[in-house]
Amino acid sequence: MEQKDIYILGIESSCDDTSAAVIRNGFLLSNVTASQSVHEAYGGVVPELASRAHQQNIVPVVDQALKKAGITQEQLSAIAFTRGPGLMGSLLVGVSFAKGLALSLGIPIIDVNHLNGHVMAHFIKEEGAEVRQPRFPFLCLLVSGGNSQIIKMNAYNDMEILGQTIDDAAGEAIDKCSKVMGLGYPGGPIIDKLARMGNPDAFSFSKPNIKGYDYSFSGLKTSFLYSLNDWMKEDPNFIEHHKEDLAASLEKTIVDILMKKLQKAAKDTKIKDVAVAGGVSANTGLRNAFIDYGKRYHWNVFIPKFSYTTDNAAMIAITGYYKYLDHDFCSIDLPAYARIEK
Ligand code: KG4
Repeated sequence: MEQKDIYILGIESSCDDTSAAVIRNGFLLSNVTASQSVHEAYGGVVPELASRAHQQNIVPVVDQALKKAGITQEQLSAIAFTRGPGLMGSLLVGVSFAKGLALSLGIPIIDVNHLNGHVMAHFIKEEGAEVRQPRFPFLCLLVSGGNSQIIKMNAYNDMEILGQTIDDAAGEAIDKCSKVMGLGYPGGPIIDKLARMGNPDAFSFSKPNIKGYDYSFSGLKTSFLYSLNDWMKEDPNFIEHHKEDLAASLEKTIVDILMKKLQKAAKDTKIKDVAVAGGVSANTGLRNAFIDYGKRYHWNVFIPKFSYTTDNAAMIAITGYYKYLDHDFCSIDLPAYARIEK
């Protein structure tokens, strides 16, 4: 008997990107994202504005994703949605939309943990592209604006968190330092660009001394701020004169902190498949460090395509696809959650 195609619609709305994607039998057909420029003026995401923008974007984004995939909504097998963690108001838009559409179509819904989705981006297949996926168990450094974690992936839906930040996330630290320097938002891509023109050894900032695999970035942020204040007493235009070196030195410090702990985890667990995921994985310095560490420690390194680093629905759809194969559906009354339940 001929196997029926499985079409999963993925919906992501956990922060400030409204995204919808369609996956057929594990292969990506479309991935449409509407970003929200409204937050730029505020130097950070304003939750209420994010929810309103999601409400405006969700229908056209889903519509475009279906059109680009060349399918009708009646062909969908299930709808996967980000249930959390994230901003509650933002999540509610995607969660409610997914439930409503699934109910009207009479198809199952699949809840996806946003962090699990980021890691699962490594399993998205594209027609005609080389397929290279990590083997379980593998390690994944998940670095975004809200998270910095070392995860041991035992199976596609079995995440063991070996370590995580006890305060700020890496992306948050970069964004805050960039704000202190008077650069735009989000700071990550700006710091990345400036860092390519600077000397990473020009300045040194304090590094945390935390046990195990946990991270901390709040001390670095403070050290960066206090150092700038001191230097600006001597030269009020210090930032303008040294912005490339400051960016390069900050980036190097963060990358060093991230990679040292990851290397310790790889050594202790003897795991050789090592991946990176999340918004900060777009960073050039971090990507280069992965390649260097891979060569040095004989890791099989997995670095995502740029389009899968920041929030996107393709990663939600692929996670949903694997859950679909396991008939791992959720009930309509399952609520969104802002934080991971402990
Ligand atoms: O995963 P993501 O899109 O959103 C969540 O936080 O869930 O990550 C956003 C973070 C921001 O802090 C942003 O500044 C950072 O990723 N980022 C970068 C780069 N591109 C984005 N950080 C460093 N270098 C980049 N090229």
